[in-house]
Amino acid sequence: METAMHQNAAKELATQGRLYVKYDPSLRKGVEEAMKAWEAFTMLPSEKKVLFSYTADAKTSGNGYELKLEGSLDRKEDCHLRVNVRDELLVEAAKADPVLGPAFVEAALKVNGLMSSMIRDFARSIEAEYSIVGFEEDVMAYQPRWLLRFLHYFGDRHPGDEIAAPHQDKGGFTLHLYESHPGVEYLTYDTKEWKALPLSHDQTVIIPGMGLQNRSKCQLQALVHRVIATEETASTGRYSAVCFFNFDHARFFDKTRFGPQQAYAPGFFYGMPFEEFDQYFID
Ligand SMILES: [Fe+2]
Repeated sequence: METAMHQNAAKELATQGRLYVKYDPSLRKGVEEAMKAWEAFTMLPSEKKVLFSYTADAKTSGNGYELKLEGSLDRKEDCHLRVNVRDELLVEAAKADPVLGPAFVEAALKVNGLMSSMIRDFARSIEAEYSIVGFEEDVMAYQPRWLLRFLHYFGDRHPGDEIAAPHQDKGGFTLHLYESHPGVEYLTYDTKEWKALPLSHDQTVIIPGMGLQNRSKCQLQALVHRVIATEETASTGRYSAVCFFNFDHARFFDKTRFGPQQAYAPGFFYGMPFEEFDQYFID
């Protein structure tokens, strides 16, 4: 069987913290169509866009459109979409604009199915390499709740500004589907240096989050990353799309007891023994 995963893929993820995967042309096309629909949606006036309201979810991120203008940091708009709430999303999006809203939701959710075989390959290779029993099945069982996130950072920044503060992703792993410009950096595991995490148009990159660090018993580690405004994006802004993957039987960082993850120094969880790491988690 033809697979997008090269032979040392699973090992590369452990040592480098990121895995480049060749883009299937149909997935690339689907992502580009979804991005065009997202850009068109973001051109609507703010008072229309906010009618596509955000519904919170108790345990994880919610669904819908968010406009974040408060404060000087992290000024952006984004939209979260999951297949399992397709009908609600279509109704809400139509309140913003009866054509552009639903067109964006449909184009975005189509990406879920287009990623499916790549993600199955990925989960299978990780399961085999790290002896994570049931991982492929647990990832695929979660498919209706895979979380697509479309982002737009506004272009009113200075070059070098941190437009996304250092963090690791909370879920299992993250697929970077699209970025209009460079700017993502990651913190290396060994020397804790910031390095560029470039994306090209025929590759995508997968990085582990806290959920996979836990499930793999720290054989894989959540990669700390941030976004920096470049000379160009400081004025033009920046569009991107990611997908957050979780899985059945995942454990979660216990924010109630240990506070927000952002309160810990970048790289705090690197190299931590599993017995210690797991104490931060609940079911
Ligand atoms: Fe992130």
